[in-house]
Amino acid sequence: MWKLLLIAILAINNCNAVLETDANTLVLLDNLAIRETHSIFFKTLQDRGFKLTYKLADDSGLLLSRYGEYLYKNLIIFAPSVEEFGGDISVERLAQFVDDGGNVLVAGSEKSGDALREFASECGFELDEEKAAVIDHLHYDVSDAGDHTTILTSALNLIDAATVVGSDNRKADAAPLLYRGTGLIADKENPLVLKLLTAESSAYSYNPESSVSDYPHAVGRNTLLIAALQARNNARVVFSGSLQFFADETFTMAVQYAQNGAFHKQAGNRAVAESISKWVFGESGRLRVASVRHNKVGESNPPEQAYTITDPVVYTIAIEELVQGTWQSFKANDIQLEFVRIDPFVRTFLKQTKGGSYEARFKIPDVYGVYQFKVDYNRVGYTHLYNTTQVSVRPLEHTQYERFIPSAFPYYTSAFSMMIGVFVFSFVFLHFKEEATGAGKSSKDDKKTQ
Ligand SMILES: *[C@@H]1O[C@H](CO)[C@@H](O)[C@H](O)[C@H]1NC(C)=O
Repeated sequence: MWKLLLIAILAINNCNAVLETDANTLVLLDNLAIRETHSIFFKTLQDRGFKLTYKLADDSGLLLSRYGEYLYKNLIIFAPSVEEFGGDISVERLAQFVDDGGNVLVAGSEKSGDALREFASECGFELDEEKAAVIDHLHYDVSDAGDHTTILTSALNLIDAATVVGSDNRKADAAPLLYRGTGLIADKENPLVLKLLTAESSAYSYNPESSVSDYPHAVGRNTLLIAALQARNNARVVFSGSLQFFADETFTMAVQYAQNGAFHKQAGNRAVAESISKWVFGESGRLRVASVRHNKVGESNPPEQAYTITDPVVYTIAIEELVQGTWQSFKANDIQLEFVRIDPFVRTFLKQTKGGSYEARFKIPDVYGVYQFKVDYNRVGYTHLYNTTQVSVRPLEHTQYERFIPSAFPYYTSAFSMMIGVFVFSFVFLHFKEEATGAGKSSKDDKKTQ
């Protein structure tokens, strides 16, 4: 009985892997056949709780938002050849969608249309020219038709970030990934672009039907197969140069290197595609600040107005990670706290306490001003965590200084010795009586009698 209940609860948990608010997903397709050829991918999404709405990419009734509110949190564009989106959707609109926090997964192909090309350049990558495909004469699959565009790339070419590509997928002995599509080039200036998957060093991107007459746009490991962007608002965009990467056929296919014959029962695509979809739609690698507290050591509330210089202070921050649809405390040992007044005056590691939150204890510097407690945690594969809390630090009040400081003792002694001296002198002066001599006495008596 209990076991059944447990299983039921687990099952409920599993199908709610995605938060309710993030479930609505619009899927734009070139044609409805893609829904069938990529059914495994869509099925895993649905099993994780996503509500998929399939539409043709050039459907004139497409609507991304209504009355100023977005109808979808996520967008999948499996429509490589679309030249122009239908209805409400345009490249500007998509960029706006990302700016407003929407997540987008896009797959192109050798025949990518202008719409995808423009959207890619909005996101900081470039799709190679039309008809260009990634070619690798050394690492191609036995199923290749002869132009060496059905390439295999080792799982080690995945980005080193477990939250993005899964912790088990990036191993030397993991199955290689099958890829057939165009190459991407990342904008070097854009620090937000992540290279999720690159080709082998022997690959390049060029039109396989023409002979190579000019230098290919992408060569070797610069040839990106899957690229991602995590925008400053933590919206995520993943761009794959291959729609085939997510196809049922690829997911289930056995792969074999044509050159050395190394055989794998299944390409690594399925697990990687699942991990990537978890990341792009915010199921993994998501952090948030649950609470922030700071106070003087021994007190439980922050001071009403300001800290005083050299106060010992405790800063506590609770950070949570989204795991399987629930927020749990996040474990890491490289989170830093800075105490900043223009420049950081204190920079220290936060230590995890038993309760799961992070704590730092330090002494406020001997400089007054307006400071911030700043946690700026930026790691590949995680949302950018940034939280600042402003506090004032004031100098000592005049009553807070020490009463007697040792170095002033000479002055104290001099003051007191002066006081004693004057006292003794006045005492002596007032009570001194001159011994009477004859002459003196008479003159005194004279005065008295007068
Ligand atoms: C920092 O986190 C706290 C607690 O979640 C929140 O109230 C505050 O607005 C955050 N500050 C910033 C600058 O995000």
